[in-house]
Amino acid sequence: MDKATTIIGIDCSPRASSNSGRMLAEVLCSLESDPRVKVMEQVRLADERIDCLGCEQCYQTFGYHCDGIDRVLSLIMESDVILMATPTCFGMPSALGVVLLDRSDPLWRDGQQLKGKLGAVIVNGATDPAEDPSVGVCAGNVMKFFDQHEMTCAQPANLGGTLAYPGQRFPSPLPEGTTGVLKQLADDIRQWIADR
Ligand SMILES: Cc1cc2nc3c(=O)[nH]c(=O)nc-3n(C[C@H](O)[C@H](O)[C@H](O)COP(=O)(O)O)c2cc1C
Repeated sequence: MDKATTIIGIDCSPRASSNSGRMLAEVLCSLESDPRVKVMEQVRLADERIDCLGCEQCYQTFGYHCDGIDRVLSLIMESDVILMATPTCFGMPSALGVVLLDRSDPLWRDGQQLKGKLGAVIVNGATDPAEDPSVGVCAGNVMKFFDQHEMTCAQPANLGGTLAYPGQRFPSPLPEGTTGVLKQLADDIRQWIADR
């Protein structure tokens, strides 16, 4: 395969310097060292202008709003791998993440435009995923989105035990367990690239 595999990373957290953004950067950085990979962008959804919440009145004209979500959806279409990172909010992705998922609807209905891409997700939350289902439930919801678009799903990276507030975020350097989960996700993405 001559062409580099393109990947977009999407930080769905509403917070600046989020745990999600940090975990996402770790995985993108690891993948970027591979010459077969081209990172398109690490997008921070909170920086994007959102003019449409997906009421469906204009769904036949994707791009009509020309807002930040249309920009991100264009990058998604150009990418082979879509890597999302989100906090869990009551077992769901953040509101920003959900807006992006809702706005992707025309891509699903108009010829399955994301079909065959790889979808991957990093979810982080306050609770330990081994004790509380919310992180896993959130990951499952994002995987449902990938599935709806007939994408391949990587095994999600479920991380817990952190809050958004200073002093309660992931420590630096990252704990070995966290590094291991992120490394596994990067390895799974590399394997998918190798098998293409
Ligand atoms: C509205 C709201 C709901 C939350 N719900 C959950 C939850 O159900 N389970 C959980 O483990 N953490 C929950 N959290 C905690 C966040 O997931 C956690 O603080 C996360 O580390 C923030 O990540 P970020 O820095 O990437 O935004 C919630 C936080 C907020 C603000």
